Amino acid sequence: MAEKVTISVIKADVGGYVGHSSMHPALMEEAEEKLESAKRKGLLIDFHVTRVGDDLELIMTHQKGEDDAEIHELGWSTLEASSNVAKSLKLYGVGQDLLSDAFSGNVKGMGPGVAEIEFEERASEPILVFMADKTSSGAWNMPLVKMFADPFTTIGLVISPVMHEGFRFEVHDVLESRKIHFDCPDELYDMLVFVGAPGRYMIRGVYHRGTAEVAAVSSTQRLSLIAGRYVGKDDPVLIVRSQGAFPAIGEILEPFSFPHMVQGWMRGSHHGPLMPVSVPESNPTRFDGPPRVVCLGFQLCNGSLVGPRDMFDDPSFDEARRQANLAGEYLRRHGPFEPHRLPLEEMEYTTMPQVAKKLEGRFEDLEE
Ligand code: 13P
Ligand code: 13P
Ligand code: MG
Ligand code: MG
Repeated sequence: MAEKVTISVIKADVGGYVGHSSMHPALMEEAEEKLESAKRKGLLIDFHVTRVGDDLELIMTHQKGEDDAEIHELGWSTLEASSNVAKSLKLYGVGQDLLSDAFSGNVKGMGPGVAEIEFEERASEPILVFMADKTSSGAWNMPLVKMFADPFTTIGLVISPVMHEGFRFEVHDVLESRKIHFDCPDELYDMLVFVGAPGRYMIRGVYHRGTAEVAAVSSTQRLSLIAGRYVGKDDPVLIVRSQGAFPAIGEILEPFSFPHMVQGWMRGSHHGPLMPVSVPESNPTRFDGPPRVVCLGFQLCNGSLVGPRDMFDDPSFDEARRQANLAGEYLRRHGPFEPHRLPLEEMEYTTMPQVAKKLEGRFEDLEE
């Protein structure tokens, strides 16, 4: 089709069941009803409602482009409707990620996570949508570098003539609100100086260097910075286009065979391994974790979402899950000690100011 199609993923935690461990089916039913009605009216081409842990995920296709007020309003009002259902059931942390009472045209900065990607649909358009719970947007840094800049993960970078030129990365500094682009492989070492610190530098997008076509887009909202207080880790999403000039499905999934360590887990204040699981297994229970990632695959067909396939529902990821349990067990034995517990400045919860105040008069100068 000639016209461009946009995939918008808008998500939020609008109430957990039980605690922060999962989602009540009534929330998803409510969201499906709302989006079905928008599809009937012609605003959406198609949609899929899903979840990871306690996060409600609205995957929508349309032709309105990115940052469209009508689409964002639909996302917001749908999350709000599900939040009302959560309220009626007295679920946990109702409306946790809906930080503002009034919608003002764009959900960015209002709490929900957003990733949007607009492109001309190819003859065949395989898409992967990754969604994580109990972690933050920096969690995509390592997998994105591996997918698009590591020849030991993506052999296509070496042997595919349409990928050999490499990819351009857009990196956001979420503390200073600024961005920079790196052309890889040439600037890989420069880029790693920054994206190796995923709490501050986050890969927002990846582009094909030859055609400038968009390959991947992530959500980079940091709820903690938006709200100025603890409101839960942002539990990010990532959309990746596959095959042809982009990495193959298996190359995109390969980085998740290693359950790398991310920030999040209990009270958003710990390091833990990111465990790849199927949607039904995305119920973080042990110490509210360990952090989970799910991946749904679709073939786009004139904007319609053919699918989903639940990509981590595969025994080839059993070993990653086993390693995640081992790594999680090892870290848990540290209890309240770093590096399991995050360093002071990264913790989402802390009693440090109160405890420090209480003990203020008891600190004595060290004698030299
Ligand atoms: P880092 O936490 O080192 O960025 O790894 C995160 C990641 O890539 C999770 O998917
Ligand atoms: P969520 O961000 O997924 O709601 O988790 C919050 C938390 O504190 C878990 O221990
Ligand atoms: Mg929650
Ligand atoms: Mg969550």
